[in-house]
Amino acid sequence: MLSADARARIDREIAKYPADQRQSAVMSALAIAQREQGWLSTAAIDEVASILGMPPVAVYEVATFYAMYDLKPTGRFKLTVCTNLPCALSGGAAAAEHLKARLGVDFGETTPDGRFTLREGECMGACGDAPVLLVNNLRMESWAGGEKLDRLVDELAAAADRGEGAPRGGEGGR
Ligand code: FES
Repeated sequence: MLSADARARIDREIAKYPADQRQSAVMSALAIAQREQGWLSTAAIDEVASILGMPPVAVYEVATFYAMYDLKPTGRFKLTVCTNLPCALSGGAAAAEHLKARLGVDFGETTPDGRFTLREGECMGACGDAPVLLVNNLRMESWAGGEKLDRLVDELAAAADRGEGAPRGGEGGR
């Protein structure tokens, strides 16, 4: 199910490790699969396991341990807000409530239009920049409160309408 391009990128990750340790590329391979599919279906995880020569359950253990992997479809833009104590005390809790109200969803939920998924995140190592959030695991927004959050949501909503963000075609996967 992965494209030739994704397979080639996974092969490049595998090549970074000794030949008998290709399983060391598991996190990169899962990230590549998720970026292409939008989330990690059973079929995608099984394919990564096959490529790496790992038991599927071992790949599942990785995919379920780390919060950046999604085991079910998300919205085009996943917003992960840090609510750990240093952030929570510096506007993170308020930013989370602001986003819940603006998007009409709770943590772990996706907006009915499929544009956004809201997540609660752990410390991102940027406590001095609170509130902080991640967009699709890659883009960090600092001092993200109030009007800045609203501008971000407006920007991403427009991008979602242009078909940008995580692919949405994988909902029918296993
Ligand atoms: S507590 Fe939020 S980034 Fe550290």
